[in-house]
Amino acid sequence: MLSERENEAVSRVGPGTLMGSLMRQYWLPAMLASELPRPDGDPVRVMLLGEQLVAFRDTKGQVGLLAHSCPHRGASLFFGRNEEDGLRCVYHGWKFDVNGRCVDMPNEPPASTFRDKVRACAYPCVERGGVVWAYLGPRATPPPLPDLEALELPENQADVFAIQRECNWLQALEGDIDTSHFGFLHFGATRKEEAGPGTFLYYAVADRAPRYALVDTEYGSMYGAYRPAGPGRLYWRIAQFLFPFYTHIPSGTLGRQVLTRAWVPMDDHHTLFVSMGAAAPRPRRQASGSSRPRRAALRTPLRPNSTGWHGRFRLEADAANDYLIDRNWQRNGDFTGIDGIFTQDQAVTESMGPVYDRTKEHLGSSDVMVIRVRRRLLDAARALAERGAVPPGVDEPHVYATRSGSVILPEKADWLSATEELRRARVSHPELDLALETR
Ligand code: FES
Ligand SMILES: [Fe+2]
Repeated sequence: MLSERENEAVSRVGPGTLMGSLMRQYWLPAMLASELPRPDGDPVRVMLLGEQLVAFRDTKGQVGLLAHSCPHRGASLFFGRNEEDGLRCVYHGWKFDVNGRCVDMPNEPPASTFRDKVRACAYPCVERGGVVWAYLGPRATPPPLPDLEALELPENQADVFAIQRECNWLQALEGDIDTSHFGFLHFGATRKEEAGPGTFLYYAVADRAPRYALVDTEYGSMYGAYRPAGPGRLYWRIAQFLFPFYTHIPSGTLGRQVLTRAWVPMDDHHTLFVSMGAAAPRPRRQASGSSRPRRAALRTPLRPNSTGWHGRFRLEADAANDYLIDRNWQRNGDFTGIDGIFTQDQAVTESMGPVYDRTKEHLGSSDVMVIRVRRRLLDAARALAERGAVPPGVDEPHVYATRSGSVILPEKADWLSATEELRRARVSHPELDLALETR
């Protein structure tokens, strides 16, 4: 359980906060590249670590990310004209390029050098894996991007999407490292007889109280949740937290799954979930016991984006409509009555409030990974603040080259050595039996 001060420290991400300073050491997935579809297109409002920013793609195709407030007298650059390699403020016509240089100041005498003394606040951006990455940190030369396998996928094999969640970033992330909710929130009404015999799901619903093994790693922390999988065998769900806000979840087969999930803090109360992974078609059997077809697990309908600070990638099913809960379905076949795994996660984590008061919680043995990750984040943030210690992974991009997933191992096997090769990125394992993922 966190103290009140620790709860504040781990949740707040604005400029000057302990956790905000930690986040600013890393590259951040700020938006999807597809949000800026063409040169000189419309600017987009972006909220990131509590800062109000405006993103635009210039005539050459480069992405700029500027503080929205014009350095002249503060009009919003969101209303700017995106033209000829820069964003021109509509108030007095000052124009800024993607680096924040003032390249035109038409309301000053032509001989004036004032424009050379003015800069807009601009953050470096790069595009990789269908995502615009931004660096909001203190270094003149940003660190390398994390070596995530998902960023190298060919465009036609990659599945990249974003969804806004209306709660604190860590509250949202913790759902990804809390494996025991899977057998309730998502599959609480599924009996093992309804799952394919011998599949991962079969073992997961046969025993809904797994035991845990946990290790700290160079990139963060990793757990293995294990339970019986027939005589002499254990079913392991292996998942990772990677600094500062990534997860590798155990939903697919270990050794085949390429998926990184980012829980990017927009501000203290809003999170941009960014999923970067391989669009692998997966064999799926409809779990019976459900009175209506379940939609694709992760894709749920979104509202059209609006231009507000929190107007991007909002689910249609939200708190205002109780996530379209169907009580009849909940009584007759489904555990929650809420359609879609992502929406189920969204409902419970948002229902905790914008920032949950963790002094009120009662953590059990199934929360061991949640406890560990909070501790690691606080330790890293304090070490940075007190001694300037570079946080995990910032200068070690290679540590991100790792995979998670589900695997069945002999009971006596050491889970770490037995899965070492399967956890390595970019290794092909054609021998793996994907039928275990079948439901
Ligand atoms: S406020 Fe932007 S040019 Fe004057
Ligand atoms: Fe979940």
